[in-house]
Amino acid sequence: MSLLEVDDVVVRFGGVTAVDHASFTASAGRVIGLIGPNGAGKTTCFNVISGLQRPTSGRVRFRGRDVTSTPVHRRAKRGMGRTFQRLEAFGSLSVADNVRAAVDIHHGLSGLLTPWRRSREARVDALLDRVGLAHYADERADAIPTGTARLLELARCLAADPRLLLLDEPSSGLNETETTAFGALLRELAAEGRGVLMVEHDMALVMSVCDEIHALDFGRVIATGTPAEIRDDPAVRRAYLGDADTERVM
Ligand SMILES: Nc1ncnc2c1ncn2[C@@H]1O[C@H](COP(=O)(O)OP(=O)(O)OP(=O)(O)O)[C@@H](O)[C@H]1O
Ligand SMILES: [Mg+2]
Repeated sequence: MSLLEVDDVVVRFGGVTAVDHASFTASAGRVIGLIGPNGAGKTTCFNVISGLQRPTSGRVRFRGRDVTSTPVHRRAKRGMGRTFQRLEAFGSLSVADNVRAAVDIHHGLSGLLTPWRRSREARVDALLDRVGLAHYADERADAIPTGTARLLELARCLAADPRLLLLDEPSSGLNETETTAFGALLRELAAEGRGVLMVEHDMALVMSVCDEIHALDFGRVIATGTPAEIRDDPAVRRAYLGDADTERVM
C-alpha cells in the first residue's frame, strides 16, 4: 500500500487548469521527486495533498484513508508534514525558539510539565543538530540566509515526527556543500521509514537522491520513473526545452 495516493486530481482556477488528471504515489522509505517547469502545477499538487486546496475532482488517500475532504490540521495529525516554497518561520524569534514553538505545538499541554521541559530542550537541540543549524540557534530567524531558513522550516516540520514529508523547493538558497549534506539527510529520513515527496529544481540533487520521479508539465504527469529513466525520457526533455538548456539542467 502506498503511503500517499494522488488519484486523477484536477484543479481549475477559472480558465486555468493547474492540475490536469494527475495520478501519482509516494511510499514509506522512499524519496520521490516531483519535477516540472515553472507553472507545471507542482505547488498546487502539494496544496491539494496537504489540504489547502480542494481539487475540482479526484481523490487523495493517505495511509489508506481518503483524506480529500479532511482539514489541514487533521492531515497533519495523521502524519503529514509540509514545508513551503515561501518561508513561514516567525522572523522575530530566534532559530531555536522557532523550533521550540513547533515542538510545543506538537506536544500540547504536556509541555507544561517540568520533566518534559528538560526533554524538550534536548529535542530542540537534536532537531537543530539534525538539519545542521546548531550554530544558528540564537540568531533571529529573519537574519539568517534563505537556504538556512529552509532548513529551519524542515526542523520545524520534523518536530511533529511526520510519516510523510512534503518539501517544496527545499534546497534553493543552499550552496553545494550544504546541498550535499541536505541530500544525505533526505536519505536518512527515508531510511527511518518516512516517505519524502519533494518538489525541486536542482536536477543534480533530484537525480542523486530520488528513488523515483514524477514529471509534470501543464498539470499532467508526463513521465514516472527512476532518475535514469526520467533523464532519458523524450517527453521530459521536450518539456524542459526552451526553459533552459536540457543538457545543463538534467
Ligand atoms: N490561486 C491561484 N489562482 C489562479 N491561478 C493559480 C493559482 N495558483 C496557481 N495558479 C496557476 O496554476 C498553475 C500552476 O501553478 P503552480 O504554482 O502549482 O506551479 P509550480 O509547478 O509550483 O511552479 P513553480 O515551479 O514556478 O513554483 C500556474 O499557471 C499558476 O499561475
Ligand atoms: Mg511551485
